Parts: sequence; structure tokens; C-alpha cells
Amino acid sequence: MDNPAAPAASAPEELVRRHAKSGASLIAVLHAIQDEAGFIPPETVAPLARAMNLSRAEVHGVITYYHHFRTRPAARVTVQLCRAESCRSMGTEALAQHIEARTGCRFDAEHGPDLGLESVYCLGQCALSPAMMINDTLYAKVTPQKFDALIDAACAKQKEPA
Ligand code: FES
Repeated sequence: MDNPAAPAASAPEELVRRHAKSGASLIAVLHAIQDEAGFIPPETVAPLARAMNLSRAEVHGVITYYHHFRTRPAARVTVQLCRAESCRSMGTEALAQHIEARTGCRFDAEHGPDLGLESVYCLGQCALSPAMMINDTLYAKVTPQKFDALIDAACAKQKEPA
């Protein structure tokens, strides 16, 4: 039964309560929180550590180790460029330079609400390098010209009324 005198649970604590189930791995819980919230609010670290019997440093360490996890909301258009070996051998660094020049943004830097550039390390498309994701869509054999068309389309789509 609810105690009316008790303070309401904060959103981060609610996220943890919903996802930190007994027997679940920390990685699985972090994925579930990010899937729901769009990122992992830093305020979830302490309740998550308590719920999973870990230290806050352990939880923070996992969040910051994996590039997939975000600690703040993603930009409306997020470009994730693979910079692992196969893609590097197929010109991803030159593509990254083109993308930065074209967008005026830098990879893995603080971003505004409209566009974010993130480095990732293998998207499972090594035979079709270089690979990238724009929001949730995977693209392969990306050239500078193909990127220009893709980013124009992605930005235009974000401006369409819902
Ligand atoms: S190395 Fe880029 S997709 Fe695997």
C-alpha cells in the first residue's frame, strides 16, 4: 500500500525499478533503460548500483566503456560512423573528414539538439565498408556523395510535421 507521506519516486528511480530485475545483467539493464529513455540519465547510476549490488564506479565504468551508451539525449539526427579496421581500410577516416567539413560538427564532441556525430567500432557490415548509421538506419559502402544525400534526406525528414 502506498504511503501518502512518502516522496514520489523520481523518474530515474522508476527507470531502475522497472528494469533492474533480479538475475538481469547490468548491460541488459542499461540497454533497457536507454531504449526507454533514449539515454542513461546520470541520476540512475546510484539507484542502479544499489539495486544491482555494485559500486557506482562499476556502473559508471560500464556506461562509459561502451560507446553505445549515452548519458544525455541524442541529437535529432545522429550519425554513427564505423571507425574500426575494415572500415578504416576502406576510407572511413577520409569520409569522417568530409562529414566534419560538410556539417561543421566534430565527431564525439558535445553536440547541439539537431546533429550529433559519433564514432562506433564495427556495425557488423565489414564486407560492405565503410558503414554508418543515421538514427536507426544502417548504410553501407558510404561515399562522401552518398553521405551528402543521406544527411540531406535525414535532416529534411526531421523537419517534416509529425
Ligand atoms: S569494421 Fe566497420 S562495420 Fe565492421
